[in-house]
Amino acid sequence: MTEVLSSPTKSRVSTLVETIRAQAALPLTEARPLPSATYWDEDFYEHELEHIWRKDWICIARVEEVPDPGSYRAIDLAGEPLMVVRGSDDRVRVFSRVCRHRYADLMGGEKTDAEKTSGCVDRFECPYHAWIYRLDGSLLSAPEMSGRPGFDRSASGLRAIRTEIWQGYVFINLDEDTDIPFDMSAIAEIQDGYDFTDWEIASVIDWGESKVNWKIVIENFLEVYHHIGIHKDVLQPLWRLGKCQQGDYTGPEHYFSRMMAGEDVAIGEEDGHLMHPLFLPAKSGLSSFQRSHTLLLTKFPAYLCAPGPDIAFWFRSLPTGPETHRLEIHLLIPKGNRDVEDFDSKMTEATDFLRLVQGQDATVNEAVQNSSRSRHARDGVLQKHEQPLWQLQKYLASRLPV
Ligand code: FES
Ligand SMILES: [Fe+2]
Repeated sequence: MTEVLSSPTKSRVSTLVETIRAQAALPLTEARPLPSATYWDEDFYEHELEHIWRKDWICIARVEEVPDPGSYRAIDLAGEPLMVVRGSDDRVRVFSRVCRHRYADLMGGEKTDAEKTSGCVDRFECPYHAWIYRLDGSLLSAPEMSGRPGFDRSASGLRAIRTEIWQGYVFINLDEDTDIPFDMSAIAEIQDGYDFTDWEIASVIDWGESKVNWKIVIENFLEVYHHIGIHKDVLQPLWRLGKCQQGDYTGPEHYFSRMMAGEDVAIGEEDGHLMHPLFLPAKSGLSSFQRSHTLLLTKFPAYLCAPGPDIAFWFRSLPTGPETHRLEIHLLIPKGNRDVEDFDSKMTEATDFLRLVQGQDATVNEAVQNSSRSRHARDGVLQKHEQPLWQLQKYLASRLPV
């Protein structure tokens, strides 16, 4: 590895990719952390944008974020201003927000910050020269343009982004020619019994933008080794490290583990399984095994979900730069579960708990980011519960060319 890194003839990015490939090929018992430069190197980040974020399928929203015809939600991904829109026909589509006239962001101009993020309209009017687009993206009108030679209104609609809706999640692919198929079958199998078509967002923690590389967030989200560290008083009693079960390896794109309820917090026992504590009633139809743990799963790079029997956490974590990301944490509940006594206070309790956990995670994520430029940030080793970090490297190795 040292030999590869010291080669003067290769570009820095190629060298980093080669190091990742070599590490990803190691057995889990010899796994090592990502090269620390991958957390801040601008050229490496551009390489990731080009070959991952602009080429793979990215989970960017839930359909209930655009509940009514005309509802929209603005999302930026890999430098592309996008918006998720529900049309008059109830269909959810994703468009570029770049005006077809002179490229103004449709959510720019004098809109309030709230309007720039989400709202409900009957059409989109560009703030610059007032071109108007319908909810299906087609151009309705363009003032004073009718005589302009070569101008074709019917060919000047907003650019549609490739979109797939799966279990209420909105996935997009910025590359219309991508050769990566949209395939959630492995995740559906892992989720077994959790179909999020029947769930909805009940609470959101908008964590905003943080100075942490996107991969550090994923690594922290997925590994449970740190339950005995930063979360020793909060999560370790709930999901004891020694009881966490890592899932079988199902390919470079997926990872999952099961965080089993600890003895001290279990609310009973059924069929030999300790029952997971709950904020709300468990979703009906789950087996006693499913009610004994919170599942932790990912489809790299952006489907991050932790389904528990009553609440599922969905992280929308998207990179905004080599050393920054933007995070919103969503608490999903089964539809119909709002009709319980003290629903609001129970959701507040759950949200506060997650905010506490996220606060702890944010501090250690920043601690890793802040020291990642040190020349001593090298030669680390992974513990076996850090298997998802090794799998992330397998994913990166599978996507990034040298
Ligand atoms: S840039 Fe949108 S109307 Fe001119
Ligand atoms: Fe954590």
